[in-house]
Amino acid sequence: MQLIDGNKIAADIISELKAEVAEFSGRKPCLALVRVGEDPASVSYVRKKEKTAEEIGIDGKIILPPITISQQELESLIESLNADPSVDGILVQSPLPSPLDEKSAFKKISPDKDVDGFHPINIGKIAQEDESGFISCTPAGIMELLKRSNVNLKGKHVVVLGRSLIVGKPVALLALQKKAGANATVTICHSGTENLSTISKQADVLIAAIGKSEFVTRDMVKPGCVVIDVGINRVADPSKKTGFRLTGDVHFPSVSEIVSHITPVPGGVGPMTVAMLMKNTVKAYKMRTEKK
Ligand code: GUN
Repeated sequence: MQLIDGNKIAADIISELKAEVAEFSGRKPCLALVRVGEDPASVSYVRKKEKTAEEIGIDGKIILPPITISQQELESLIESLNADPSVDGILVQSPLPSPLDEKSAFKKISPDKDVDGFHPINIGKIAQEDESGFISCTPAGIMELLKRSNVNLKGKHVVVLGRSLIVGKPVALLALQKKAGANATVTICHSGTENLSTISKQADVLIAAIGKSEFVTRDMVKPGCVVIDVGINRVADPSKKTGFRLTGDVHFPSVSEIVSHITPVPGGVGPMTVAMLMKNTVKAYKMRTEKK
């Protein structure tokens, strides 16, 4: 069994980006990070994104509007960042506190600064196999993990558990693309799927992105399968200092015994998400500076 080390692969990407950014003349790439409210997970994610940006030489600009900000004010803020020539990438941390409407906010981000890849134009470009867009960071991270672990999807049956707009649907479209490393046969399972384990057992590559702690058990997986666990679930655990432990969507102890490759949680897909955000920011910078 090969453990896919997301920390190591993400660190490789970060050092490649650092070397690339060091060669840029003139201003540094700039990523605006907008966080509304104090959701503990969001506070920690945004801090991690800022730290990683700094490590690479990207200017991370944190913007913390008051929690009372209206939808209109938030969208005006996004528009001012769209118009700001010193900003290359814009990220609005999800989830936004209610009653803010994040789907509407994401649509306001200019597609050429949408480093999260949540804008409908960027999602549509994946379906069109148009590489000029931004691929959202988690699906891009999964594809990069597979590529750098020498897992070729060509002709394989990829089963995706979950149909979210951020992970399930885009990763299914990426695996389906007619290009090197992809070209898979893809099935998406979701909460309405009947006989899910009959389908998951047919997977050569199983991507679990359903947000249910340790949902995938050994009896649902074919021996020799490649398992990518996208889940990050906080499960109460009084024995931990934080009061919780992180689990994936896969029951790691039993499933890891029969697979060929598997990602751990934490330390699998999670670190890749941040690395791919940085990669998208550098891409946005290059697109904007090369256009001039
Ligand atoms: N919240 C959890 N993951 C993400 C992400 O990739 N982007 C944003 N903006 N918010 C998130």
